[in-house]
Amino acid sequence: MSGFDKTWLALREPVDIRARAKPLVEQFSRHLEDVARPAVLDIGCGTGSTWRSLATRLPATTQWHLLDYDPLLLAEAERRIGAQKHVSFRQFDLNQIESLPLAEISVVTASALFDLCSAAFCDLFARTLAASKTGLYAALNYDGVMEWSIVHPLDQQVAADFNRHQHFDKGFGPALGPDATDHLRRCFEDLDYTISVATSPWIMGPGDHDLQAAFLEGLVTPLSEIGTLTQKEISDWLDFRRARIAEADSSCVVGHTDILALPRH
Ligand SMILES: C[S@@+](CC[C@H](N)C(=O)[O-])C[C@H]1O[C@@H](n2cnc3c(N)ncnc32)[C@H](O)[C@@H]1O
Repeated sequence: MSGFDKTWLALREPVDIRARAKPLVEQFSRHLEDVARPAVLDIGCGTGSTWRSLATRLPATTQWHLLDYDPLLLAEAERRIGAQKHVSFRQFDLNQIESLPLAEISVVTASALFDLCSAAFCDLFARTLAASKTGLYAALNYDGVMEWSIVHPLDQQVAADFNRHQHFDKGFGPALGPDATDHLRRCFEDLDYTISVATSPWIMGPGDHDLQAAFLEGLVTPLSEIGTLTQKEISDWLDFRRARIAEADSSCVVGHTDILALPRH
């Protein structure tokens, strides 16, 4: 079990779809159009959100390989996607990076994954992709921005504490958190890839009530573990935020960035 539950992934999926930077998806699709047998490896696939977002926006002949180490999420991906001749599933731990199945893969895709990864993992991952001239499309990397239209005096401290917690180990060593996209950019620039980066913020309004509520719930443990704020400050801030989710002029922005890194031919 990875600790990512399918309810949370389902809540974020529509907002993720809205947020993805369209120019990067279009550029990614044009790149695959020039490949004789396009094939994509989606790492950390969860329940298959990247496939649902992109399958109809990439060439129809694209072969999809979905990979995750969590058997429950992988089973849910198989159940939701069903038997499709262009899609396969595989249980795999990304810490075994040296045996990542890259043969015939044109581009590795990932969504909401690299902020969990360490600098050492990304360095090795980038070198592994470069050895087979494989591209990378990594979307929805959290970038440290957390803002509300209705302000509270503790908002900045909350964001700072959450961002510090983002660097805690999530299974790959000390996580890059909000630095993930910049780090990937530097890795692939050094390997002479062509890089495009674009923002893909979640902009959540009252219509995204359930995601906003779950997002706030997800802050409790990080804020408590960092310990800058007292339990009373945390619960007062949460009460203030929860009470405002449904207000018409209330919105919350959570920043992300997408990166497309393609090998020069
Ligand atoms: C935030 S979820 C994103 C899931 C999916 N890409 C999406 O956008 O809905 C991170 C995913 O990475 C997977 N993951 C985390 N560590 C992993 C590892 N070491 N090997 C393989 N998958 C991993 C988790 O199981 C989870 O499915």
